[in-house]
Amino acid sequence: MTEPPQPSLLNVVLLGYGKMGKAIAALAPQRGCHVVRVLDEESNRSCQGITPENFKNVKVALDFTAPGAVVENIRRIAALGCNLVVGTTGWTDRFGEVRAAIESSGVGLVYGANFSIGVQLFYRAAAALAKVLSDYPAYEPYITESHHRSKKDAPSGTALELKRQVQPFLKGREIPVSSVRAGYIPGTHELGFDSEADTLVLRHTARGRQAFAEGALHAARWVAGKRGIYQFADTLDHEGSNASDSDA
Ligand SMILES: NC(=O)c1ccc[n+]([C@@H]2O[C@H](COP(=O)([O-])OP(=O)(O)OC[C@H]3O[C@@H](n4cnc5c(N)ncnc54)[C@H](OP(=O)(O)O)[C@@H]3O)[C@@H](O)[C@H]2O)c1
Repeated sequence: MTEPPQPSLLNVVLLGYGKMGKAIAALAPQRGCHVVRVLDEESNRSCQGITPENFKNVKVALDFTAPGAVVENIRRIAALGCNLVVGTTGWTDRFGEVRAAIESSGVGLVYGANFSIGVQLFYRAAAALAKVLSDYPAYEPYITESHHRSKKDAPSGTALELKRQVQPFLKGREIPVSSVRAGYIPGTHELGFDSEADTLVLRHTARGRQAFAEGALHAARWVAGKRGIYQFADTLDHEGSNASDSDA
């Protein structure tokens, strides 16, 4: 899919045309973004689609591909001077390489395991709950996450981020993380605290991909013209209180 650039809109390229790529392409025109080109597995084999010609007048590339593809995509797109929104998960063990590529090329990157504003609020609520229970070691923390069978990485990036957010309040306490991949389960994350007497559970359940697509397009508009590396949560801190009013 190739369209001429449109000056009044934010011109973007999509990498990956799976479930998320399609959701973003469908929403983009309503959110001030023009999808100039889609690079899928076929048109981007060995990164052959990442060329100066294909990225001419493109302000931001959005990558929702696969853990094995994303790092090389980032490296090559950054070298072309194009900013990035990366929603693909399962690559943060190679964060050092990505940081070097972004810093040396002087572009901007927003990344995150979960672009849902509701999940960002869930992280904050989870941290508050962990803080309340920090002085009650009888309550043993745990995280569970469940997703549809085609999700490739486990545990999910969201579960790992959830653990990172609550661990400082639960020093010395192990937080086991368990994953389920089956059927069509919508992304579901739970933080639980279990004691001999009772259980506390905080849960977030996604209803669909619309929330992620909304967040990805918000991040694309936010990062256009910026330099440096940002997490998705950073894009909301600059939004003011309105951002927390909806589960985008
Ligand atoms: N941050 C968030 O909010 C968020 C939300 C949902 C999903 N995700 C993550 O986003 C990624 C994609 O999710 P999804 O549900 O859209 O998965 P998906 O339906 O499997 O789509 C990924 C697509 O990318 C294609 N692809 C693989 N390598 C590529 C390359 N080098 N260049 C271009 N396209 C390539 C795949 O093709 P093949 O099928 O032929 O391999 C597939 O069509 C996953 O890592 C997922 O965990 C993040």
